[in-house]
Amino acid sequence: MSTYMNNAATSWPKPDPVPKAVFDFMVGRGANLARGAASGRDLDTMDMVIECREWLGRTLGGYRDGDPRYISFTANITESLNVVLKGYLKPGMTVATTSMEHNAVIRPLRRLEKKGVKVEVMGCDGCGKLDPDVFRALCESKKVDMLVMSHGSNLCGAVQDVDSLSRICGEKDIHFVLDTAQTAGVIPISASKLGLAALCFTGHKGLMGPQGIGGIVWKPSFAELCEPFVEGGTGSFSHEEHQPESMPDKFESGTPNLPGIAGLLAALKWIDEIGIDVIHKREEELGSRLLEGLKSVPGIVFHGSSEMDGRLPVFAVNFEGMDNGVIAGKLADMGIETRPGLHCAPLAHRTLGSFPQGALRLSVGFFSTEEQVDMTLKAIKQVAEEG
Ligand SMILES: Cc1ncc(COP(=O)(O)O)c(C=O)c1O
Repeated sequence: MSTYMNNAATSWPKPDPVPKAVFDFMVGRGANLARGAASGRDLDTMDMVIECREWLGRTLGGYRDGDPRYISFTANITESLNVVLKGYLKPGMTVATTSMEHNAVIRPLRRLEKKGVKVEVMGCDGCGKLDPDVFRALCESKKVDMLVMSHGSNLCGAVQDVDSLSRICGEKDIHFVLDTAQTAGVIPISASKLGLAALCFTGHKGLMGPQGIGGIVWKPSFAELCEPFVEGGTGSFSHEEHQPESMPDKFESGTPNLPGIAGLLAALKWIDEIGIDVIHKREEELGSRLLEGLKSVPGIVFHGSSEMDGRLPVFAVNFEGMDNGVIAGKLADMGIETRPGLHCAPLAHRTLGSFPQGALRLSVGFFSTEEQVDMTLKAIKQVAEEG
């Protein structure tokens, strides 16, 4: 059994009801969505999909009491961000982002920039945090149409001050799009309370679902302003050659990942039973234990904060004179799974001073144990001493 310290890549293991729900759907039901004759199995799939939208609306603070029509499914948050950014931003518009973003935000923005969208990248501090005054100053110097950024860093675990940023967006009438890849399911968050234009999520990290399912919680008025990125069969309005404008069909063409939705629904119910606060507290405890142990490893360099101060339990480190890829390889040989390199976030590494060499990332999850943390620390000390 390996020691999994790579929960920022995907949470693992999953709660037992998740794979069971995927299996039960595929073996016991398995009908397509809105593409049958309203048989019992067809209606079963329809109910499951609506129920999952309802649960997402409740868990992530959807608008109009979590109106399920304003929850869209995608394959992952990368697709969600592409749908929102390419669906809204037009040449001449200005979008603000931060220097801590994942390529899921930066790459679509760089493509849009080539088409005439102005991209403003705001610098974050050495802990990976954006000072809301930097954003305020930007908004006072020019008209900003959208702010898009991650809630929590996949590199160093920094959590951004989204309350202050959302207040500024509210005052200045700016669409706020949030990447919650690392925070949904781990930190309580409400799209409607923050006034988000779109909350983008992925199902397989803190939300504990399977890979291949993600989505968007929309502000209804913002969904109206966006153009669909993918068009095709929706199982509805089949007489129409044009994409329906009604939600959720507008942004959902093609057969959705129904086994993924089955698993995500089970995961949302499991999270509700355990409680996001309990999950967060447990991850913090394990993170603190790992952090304190790491501090005593000779030659360790932290990229980002070396305190627990409200961050996620995700740590980026290097060891003087050693290659993080080699260290990750040695740890893997000892049964400890981490992630070295650049973590799809070159800009974030530049911000934290770890570009181009990258860093070793360690990330605990709800199912990590104290024993696993201690084993990881022991192995890291051994590797660091061997040099
Ligand atoms: C902050 C952040 N945004 C976006 C993504 C992309 O997630 P996915 O591969 O599920 O689309 C990740 C994944 O590591 C992430 O950590």
